[in-house]
This record gives sequence, C-alpha cells and structure tokens, in this order.
Amino acid sequence: MKKNKTVRFKETVGIDVGTHSVKIVHLKKLHDGFKLLNYEVRPTVPQGVEYVLSDLRPERYAPVIVEMLKTLRIAPKRIKHLVSSIGGDNTSIKQIKTIFLPDDELESALFFEAKKHIPISGTDMVLDYQVLSVEEKTNNMNILLAATSKDVLNDHTNVLATAGLSPHIVDIDSLAVANSFALNAFVEEGVYVLLNLGAHRTNMVIWGPDSKFFARDIPYGGFHFTTDIMRKRQMEWGAAETHKFEFGLLDDPSHPVVQTISMLDISEKSTEDAIAEELRRSLRFYVKEAGNSDFRKIYLMGGTAKLKGLPEYLQDKVNVPTEVFMPFTNVEMPEKFQDKKDPQLGLAIGLAMRME
Ligand SMILES: Nc1ncnc2c1ncn2[C@@H]1O[C@H](COP(=O)(O)OP(=O)(O)OP(=O)(O)O)[C@@H](O)[C@H]1O
Ligand SMILES: [Mg+2]
Repeated sequence: MKKNKTVRFKETVGIDVGTHSVKIVHLKKLHDGFKLLNYEVRPTVPQGVEYVLSDLRPERYAPVIVEMLKTLRIAPKRIKHLVSSIGGDNTSIKQIKTIFLPDDELESALFFEAKKHIPISGTDMVLDYQVLSVEEKTNNMNILLAATSKDVLNDHTNVLATAGLSPHIVDIDSLAVANSFALNAFVEEGVYVLLNLGAHRTNMVIWGPDSKFFARDIPYGGFHFTTDIMRKRQMEWGAAETHKFEFGLLDDPSHPVVQTISMLDISEKSTEDAIAEELRRSLRFYVKEAGNSDFRKIYLMGGTAKLKGLPEYLQDKVNVPTEVFMPFTNVEMPEKFQDKKDPQLGLAIGLAMRME
C-alpha cells in the first residue's frame, strides 16, 4: 500500500497490530529463504478485562510495542524492512478484469473502479494495484486492486510512529494471509480457504494457484465466542474468557448450561454458526464468480484458530477438510523454537516474509 524506495536488508520484521494483541516476527534473510530470529505475542488488555474494538489509540498500543521491541532486542532505527498491515472497514482488496490499458491510463481507470467497491471519496482514497496477468486470447488484464482511506492508513501509521517505527510497506491483512499460506504450505491445484480468526473480525480469503483471489472480512472473532459463553452460562467476562480457553466449543461436564429465557430465543445464533454460514455463502458466491468449486482445504489462523472444537465444527458444517495452519513450515527454526507452531502468528509471518 505504501512503499518507500527499495532498500537492501538482511533482517525483516512483520508487525500485526490487532485489537486484542500485537504480534511481532523477526526474521533473518538467508541466501535462499528465512531463519526465525525471534517472535512475540502480547495482549494489549490485561487478562480478564473485556477488549474493545474501536480504539486504536497510540497510548494503548505504543507502550506495548515498545516493550516488545525491547524484549526482542530490536532497535527501531536499525530495522530497514518493516511490514505491517491494515484491514476491516474501509479497506478493500479485489481481483478485477479490465480491457488492456497502457500504464498511463491504468491508474486513473482503476481509481474509478476502486470507487465502486469502497465507499470513500476520491480525495480520501489510497490505491495500490498489481497486474497479475494479461490473457493471451482476449488481451484482458487481471488486476489485484487494493484500496483504503487516508484516515485508516494515518491512524495505523500514527500508532507505529509513536512507538518509534516507520513501516516500509503497509499491506492489506487478507493479502498477507494469502502470502503466509502460499509461502508456508504445500499448495497443490485447487482452491483453498484461509480464515484469520482474530478478536473482533475474521479475514476470509479464497484462493488457488490457478484460481481467482477473493477476500472479505467478517465481523466475528474471539470476542463473540466469549460473549456467547457469558450469555449461555451466565458468566462474567473474565470467567467466560477462562472457560473459552479451557473448553472452547466443547462442553464442560462439571458446569452444565443453565437454561434461561434468553437462551430460548432461537434467533440468537451462535458465533460458530454465523461463521459457518458466512463461509458457505462466500463459497457459493466464489463458485459463481470464479467458476471453480474444487475446494481442497480450510486453514485456520489467528488466536481464535486455537479454539477447541472449531476446526471439527467448521469441517462438519461446510464439508471441506479443515485444519489449523502451521505458520513456520518454510522458515528455518533454531532448536529453542522447535515446538512453537502458534497459528496466532500466521499474519505476522506473512508480513515478515513479504519482499517488495
Ligand atoms: N488458546 C486459545 N483458545 C481460544 N481462544 C484463544 C486462544 N488464544 C487466544 N485466543 C483468542 O484469540 C483472540 C486474539 O487473537 P488475535 O491476536 O489473532 O486477534 P487480534 O489480531 O488482536 O484481533 P483482530 O484481528 O480482530 O483485530 C482473543 O479473542 C483471544 O481470546
Ligand atoms: Mg488480527
């Protein structure tokens, strides 16, 4: 989204600033690939305190980021390649097809195209694009179009600036999710579904090596699973969050659900059900749009990918094999990290592995 001039670098840092926690991955660039130097996940809210969506205040995030950099021994001034990302409302990424246009016409044509997909005024829009291919027969161009507003970008870079950081590239969440997957999974033919399940939202990406890129964010995450438990089990936030970590979607035999009047309200859909429905809806849309229904696997990443019982639930409801993503598959890992396969780092690793 925002690129400064090309720099040569030996180390790279990916920073994923979420509404619940900050994730940092520090990699060393090898001749052929990457080696993990260090990483950290740190919540921005104390354990047991309800996390809120709206405030991307530098006062909340900057001290957390500064502490993390200290622990990781990363000096902000020394990082030449820092990649972060934005997502959610007022960001959009879409693969489109246009007739062939020369470079000098392309940007203004795409500007009008982007305005159709994202409800922000022209002067506030920040646009980036990548020509994926030019079709031989028709000469049509396949283009990946990314757009956001200046406000979203400024709020994000302000948080980083307060912590002394200046990003070399600001990516779009769902693109980094796809990148992480493409670089760390054994991708055969077919179409893959990637879900980055956070605290307040989930980035959904549907993509295959020979198939169209589709991405949207849905407004569900760990926050909603916790509030489900509060409602169903009549618990306070802290107890519900603890219960979620221990049992996830599985039942706790020693603490049966208490039937209440509000529970009988069948219109109150569970979060897992809402996610499964959004997923099925998007898959149907994808089949129509891309003409490809060869869905091979659903991969889950983000903190909420660790929710017990979720992969099995989605697999059952959507009928596509589902598993938790392993973020470091293609990164050389020193002995001390060997057992660390945390899917919460999925996006941050995709950011750290992004080149130009
Ligand atoms: N072991 C676990 N079991 C269940 N939930 C977990 C587990 N570990 C973390 N979570 C949940 O994952 C969420 C945090 O994940 P993540 O760091 O991916 O979110 P975020 O990026 O901060 O949020 P967002 O992307 O929505 O802004 C929280 O809701 C937290 O309760
Ligand atoms: Mg997130």
